[in-house]
Amino acid sequence: MYLQHFQLKEMPFSITPDTAFFMNRGGYRDALNVLKVALDMGEGFLKVTGEVGTGKTLLCRSLINNLSDEYVTAYVPNPYLTPEGLFLTIADELGIRYTPNIRQHALLKRITWTLLKMRKEGKRVVLCLDEAQAIPIQTLETLRLLTNLETDKRKLIQVILFGQPELDELLSEPSIRQLRQRITFAYKLSPLNRESMKRYIDHRLSVAGYMDGDLFDEEALELLYVASQGIPRLVNILAHKAMIVAYGIGDLMITRKHMRVSIEDTEDARRWHEKSVRKRDRILRWAYGAFGTLAIAGVIAFATNSADVMALIK
Ligand SMILES: Nc1ncnc2c1ncn2[C@@H]1O[C@H](COP(=O)(O)OP(=O)(O)O)[C@@H](O)[C@H]1O
Ligand SMILES: [Mg+2]
Repeated sequence: MYLQHFQLKEMPFSITPDTAFFMNRGGYRDALNVLKVALDMGEGFLKVTGEVGTGKTLLCRSLINNLSDEYVTAYVPNPYLTPEGLFLTIADELGIRYTPNIRQHALLKRITWTLLKMRKEGKRVVLCLDEAQAIPIQTLETLRLLTNLETDKRKLIQVILFGQPELDELLSEPSIRQLRQRITFAYKLSPLNRESMKRYIDHRLSVAGYMDGDLFDEEALELLYVASQGIPRLVNILAHKAMIVAYGIGDLMITRKHMRVSIEDTEDARRWHEKSVRKRDRILRWAYGAFGTLAIAGVIAFATNSADVMALIK
């Protein structure tokens, strides 16, 4: 589309979590380190939460790519599964063969056997569950039982839950109290701040092959930050649309004009933007009000003083 126009090798702001674009920003570095250390320490349950679009899936994929050969990982992208469905998925991920009508009990036995075999080979097995806020309670409970499997030294499987903040609500259910108590390591991903959003944009553009300096001017970036609240997915959507707008009219730099159109066209962003405009108007109204009151008070004080002075002169 606009690749040639902006001299790019690939789309810089696609919304798929592509690890080639991974930026090891502050919060991310911390999260990756926390996860790696906790896995090395043999923790059974870890948790990463963050609002929609803050980069949980990308973090999960980057972690999987970053782990040493000692680790065998199983990735479950959509854990809206029955306990049986979860066992089948884990078996598939670990390359375990089974007949279509296998009983749950028999499947669990095979999984346990495979985990023990992997342990003997010096491997550590990590199960990553994305969108974990959607796991049915019963399946979560089964998961806990699975992590009960341990040798005298270590867990046979370690689990990382990646989920939206609703995951915490789910975990506060009394019926899974035991599981909650076992989550000793948790990390919360936050959105980008202004400065890291700018680095994020530069980073993605440079990975995509852009070499022409700043593509977005300061005003466009400020609008982008307010409208996206620093949420990477929203930043990508807005930046991409603004580039389409600029391309459509032959402009080579993204300014306020292009960004406004992009925001208008994006419901989530419009909401933040309107909210911030309302907040600004409220502050302005308040400031005018305060200024007005001060001015009136000043006039009264002046008049009173003048009257006093006049009285003295007289
Ligand atoms: N640290 C990062 N570096 C590069 N891109 C990121 C980063 N964090 C998030 N993104 C991008 O933001 C978008 C949303 O990330 P994603 O992992 O899908 O969010 P979530 O799973 O939390 O909804 C993806 O395009 C992803 O590539
Ligand atoms: Mg995700």
